[in-house]
Amino acid sequence: MRAMGLLFLAGVAVAQAPSYQPVGSVAQIMLSMSYPFSDALFYIERDPPKTDHDWTNIQYTALMLAESGNLLMMPRLGVPTKDPEGWIKDCKLLVEAGAAAYKAARAKDLNGILALNSQLVDSCTTCHADFRPNYRRRPPATPPPAK
Ligand code: HEC
Repeated sequence: MRAMGLLFLAGVAVAQAPSYQPVGSVAQIMLSMSYPFSDALFYIERDPPKTDHDWTNIQYTALMLAESGNLLMMPRLGVPTKDPEGWIKDCKLLVEAGAAAYKAARAKDLNGILALNSQLVDSCTTCHADFRPNYRRRPPATPPPAK
């Protein structure tokens, strides 16, 4: 009975519009989570995890990276207004890549994490190509040499 009540309450909570309180902008989520946590995985070979404690840290890193994708789905400063469905789709690429890295980290599978590098990079670049203002559209810093 008690469990039913809880289920009912959970249902009500889902039915109501959730009142999030976003604190950071998209750029700040990038700089505080997506960027440093993905870097830690991209360059994991520089200081490979050895102890259980090291692996726990890698697990949390991958976990936070994945969750950063969920945080990007919340309304917050910097979420583009165009193509909301495409945005969620791109956020999910990051969640999926991060979740796969988390799974590999739980299995203490260094090669598994390395094998996910390109999927991870793709999740970043796909969204940046779709939504990051001026991404890859900047003029070259120096003009190309004359032929
Ligand atoms: C769902 C979309 C999305 C995903 C996924 C995403 N980004 Fe971003 N990123 C953006 C947008 C949009 C901006 C521009 C934010 C702005 O300037 O307001 C940005 C900006 C950045 C910046 C520049 C921040 C600044 O202001 O200097 C960095 C660094 C960055 N992203 C790294 C990453 C990395 C690394 C990943 C993958 C692990 C990633 N991003 C995944 C959308 C995304």
